[in-house]
Amino acid sequence: MSEQQSYVVDIETMPRGGPNASWLDRRMQTDVLEYIDRYDVSDRIKQVVIGELDRQDWHEDNARTALASVVGIDSPRILELGAGHGKLSAKILELHPTATVTVTDLDPTSVANIEKSLGGQQRATTKVVDATAIDAPDNSYDLVVFAMSFHHLRPALAARAIAEATRISTKFLVIDLARLPTPVLPLIPALGVLIAAPGALRKGPLTILPFLHDAIISMLRAYRPQAITALAAAADPAIKVEFLPGSPPLLRAVFSRL
Ligand SMILES: C[S@@+](CC[C@H](N)C(=O)[O-])C[C@H]1O[C@@H](n2cnc3c(N)ncnc32)[C@H](O)[C@@H]1O
Repeated sequence: MSEQQSYVVDIETMPRGGPNASWLDRRMQTDVLEYIDRYDVSDRIKQVVIGELDRQDWHEDNARTALASVVGIDSPRILELGAGHGKLSAKILELHPTATVTVTDLDPTSVANIEKSLGGQQRATTKVVDATAIDAPDNSYDLVVFAMSFHHLRPALAARAIAEATRISTKFLVIDLARLPTPVLPLIPALGVLIAAPGALRKGPLTILPFLHDAIISMLRAYRPQAITALAAAADPAIKVEFLPGSPPLLRAVFSRL
């Protein structure tokens, strides 16, 4: 096997905590899929989770982070991957008078809902796009943004998404859950219940249980910066990654080609 092939194999099995993750960090991860990634789960359950994500309060901050990456470009062309409900792109349109957005997701039901909610907005286009195989020409965007979604991809696919997004765009911004410090990882189920409890009391368990399920899996699948750096190197050694300052629970990484 060539050196290059053996590196690909390493990336496929790389822990979410990075190549040098500790014993505990390696065990506190999962290959179990979230409901929103499963084809055997009804659209109704998936949209319950997407609806809860829509109600979170991070979309405006994420839109401002995205726009900070395209300062100086008059009419930035932005592609959002894994948009879910489309709130981030809606905020970008609200905050920037000339930006255009292509709002996408792998899930056709989510894309159809986004299309309805954007209601004929002239600066927005919607379509189904797989982040790991993007149907767009080289250098066709100024920014690709992927929010709260990168952990959905196993390492080999995450590396492919980095290669694809930096092929079609000058910058690729990933905003995602930061992986918790290792000693805290075993507490994730309890943390999930604490986070979901107020919502469960207000809305009832049928709404909150699917969200709790996906939130716990998300925390176990989140990547550490060391893993993200290794993914970029595996995608192409000519890709650099810069981590933006910010506080947990979010991690913000900008990928670009040297
Ligand atoms: C947790 S939701 C994030 C929604 C939204 N971006 C937010 O910030 O709340 C993850 C989204 O990623 C999408 N997704 C998963 N795998 C994907 C892929 N390979 N390509 C594009 N989208 C994907 C899912 O369908 C889902 O809508």
